[in-house]
Amino acid sequence: MRRMRSSGRGRQGKRLVKVSGGNGEMTVQVRFLPDDITIAAEPGEPLLVVADRAGVTIPTGCLMGSCHACEVDLELESAGEAIGESICACITAVPHHTAAITINLYADPTW
Ligand code: FES
Repeated sequence: MRRMRSSGRGRQGKRLVKVSGGNGEMTVQVRFLPDDITIAAEPGEPLLVVADRAGVTIPTGCLMGSCHACEVDLELESAGEAIGESICACITAVPHHTAAITINLYADPTW
């Protein structure tokens, strides 16, 4: 698979990182909050890999879905309905069948 990468600032000063896949599969726009960084990703791509490529650090621990150190809020729209849920980023991939998702890294004061 061939990739082309560029990065820089968008029109509104938001950081944009673009990656285009060479297999013709539709990309998913992944927006990370609170930094407001948006990056194109491929469905099925591990979320931690996408975050790393975007320069976003998601705290991790066990890397196998047990400790919840990597818990983030995932928001997406499916069949015209907004869906939000807490997920463990270490065991989650970019979903298929959606054009955009938002990942909110909130600060959990208990961690
Ligand atoms: S790093 Fe432990 S659940 Fe993700």
